[in-house]
Amino acid sequence: MKNVPRAIDLYSGVGGWSLGLRLAGIDVVASYERWGPANETNFKNNAHQAQTVDARRLSREDLPTDIDIVVGSPPCTQFSFSNRGGGGDIADGLEDIKQFLTIVELMKPRVWAMENVPRVAKIIETELQVDGRLAKFRHLGCATYIVDMSEYGLPQRRRRCIAGNFSIERLESYRATTRKRTLGEVVNALASEPVVDPLFGITIPGSDLTDHVLEDVLRPDEVRINRAKKTTHTVYNAMSFPDPLDRSVRTITATCTRVSRESIVIQTDSAETEFRRLTLRERACLQGFPVTFQFYGATYDQKLKMIGNAVPPAFSYLMGFAFKDCDADAVPSLRAASQDLNRPKPEPAETRPDRLGVQYPAKRTFRFAVPSLRLKSGVRFELCNDFSTDTANWRVAFYFGTSKEIMGLRLNSLLAKRLKRNMSYALAMAIASAVDEAHAFAATADIANMQAVWAHRGPGDTSPFMLLDMLDEIGTSLKQTITSHEDEAKALINAALRAEYGDTAADLPGIAKLHRNAALILSGLILGSAMNPVLADKCLVS
Ligand SMILES: C[S@@+](CC[C@H](N)C(=O)[O-])C[C@H]1O[C@@H](n2cnc3c(N)ncnc32)[C@H](O)[C@@H]1O
Repeated sequence: MKNVPRAIDLYSGVGGWSLGLRLAGIDVVASYERWGPANETNFKNNAHQAQTVDARRLSREDLPTDIDIVVGSPPCTQFSFSNRGGGGDIADGLEDIKQFLTIVELMKPRVWAMENVPRVAKIIETELQVDGRLAKFRHLGCATYIVDMSEYGLPQRRRRCIAGNFSIERLESYRATTRKRTLGEVVNALASEPVVDPLFGITIPGSDLTDHVLEDVLRPDEVRINRAKKTTHTVYNAMSFPDPLDRSVRTITATCTRVSRESIVIQTDSAETEFRRLTLRERACLQGFPVTFQFYGATYDQKLKMIGNAVPPAFSYLMGFAFKDCDADAVPSLRAASQDLNRPKPEPAETRPDRLGVQYPAKRTFRFAVPSLRLKSGVRFELCNDFSTDTANWRVAFYFGTSKEIMGLRLNSLLAKRLKRNMSYALAMAIASAVDEAHAFAATADIANMQAVWAHRGPGDTSPFMLLDMLDEIGTSLKQTITSHEDEAKALINAALRAEYGDTAADLPGIAKLHRNAALILSGLILGSAMNPVLADKCLVS
């Protein structure tokens, strides 16, 4: 390969590939992207031709000649699990991959690589088969790999599919030259004076650090929601809350609200009960961008997207050396390679994070499991609202079964009567005070205004979390009481299921689990069927 190989970057975004390759001594002669603000960012930081074009329409005449390397990141939207739970339009996503491979075919570079979400590895492998939709590109020698970028010096466990004809052995040989990094290293480095870039070693005064606006700490209700989404999600694995500082961070995504599961949340220095989201600059550093890099987005959300979508330059730097087939001991440190990096001028506008106190949609949904009535899987009692009528209907819902077959049982006055009728005098007496407490709370709670409180659209005396806490407390005490009546609990559960499902009740999915946890299940049935009629009356009033 030439001393200074020539490359192009397709679907180039802000130029994560371009910057890494440039630092590795590769001339990125042009890049192609249709989103203006991303292109401006690429152009100003990387000082090369960044064309605002639809890459699907590029043809031979639009492209430069004598190209040694083709890189790019066709959009992952259609392939990502965050798009309709993985139900995106795969055929549409494949169009961009086809276009990328068509350009590789036209340019005949010596080496090429394409980055995407991990799921794409299997899709490419399947479609490259003789009868697949990418079969005509089989001659390009495409192999797919899943890399975890935390193994290449990035403080982030970012797993991505890299497909291409480069030497994976060469790339893997660079792992030994990097070290593991942590979220805490990045947060501390950016809080120090002067700031020493944790990856690139560039030193700047703290006052020169951009996009590092510490936003207000999360409000107590936001902490509740954020914690619940991470630790008790119905489908996905549990994550830590807050995110630990002593290890690499989870994937930095393109969106993140103050309450979303994707948001990375850390404890503030000032109090153990205070938490904040990361700043844009912290996210950019975790994504392997130097502190000199500036994002030309008009809003906070645009910058979030640019950062989260990017290929980390600290990783593409190593890819650059793999393309050049360089020995591991001849790869200069990032610090050495980046000493000439400067902040581009003019600087972009500083963008503020979301404001506090915003209103939510009037029909903002609420769906949180009652903690004391929760199992890891297969059983869920939750407080939720629905809008089958004009006003919010609040209720306790019950689901059980398997992920393939989810069943439910109506918790209503009929069930309450049935339970009472079948219950022994001893058990009825033992649970009476807990049931009274639930009724008393529901009777005095301001259910009519609870939706207004939840949507930040009006005053009210009761928030849904107050109600959830009450359900949690009474659930705990019911469970303790019913534990010494396990056999009766099983019989009552069976009777309730038979009334709803008839003869099929004994074969319902997950029934064994209901029996194994009979005290918990019966507590939820009693509590839900006692509360729901009162809630329903009060919702009607509102
Ligand atoms: C995964 S991102 C690329 C990230 C990029 N490698 C970086 O480091 O910033 C995919 C990019 O493709 C762009 N894109 C999507 N469809 C396109 C098209 N038809 N033509 C050009 N760009 C497109 C999106 O705007 C987005 O910036």
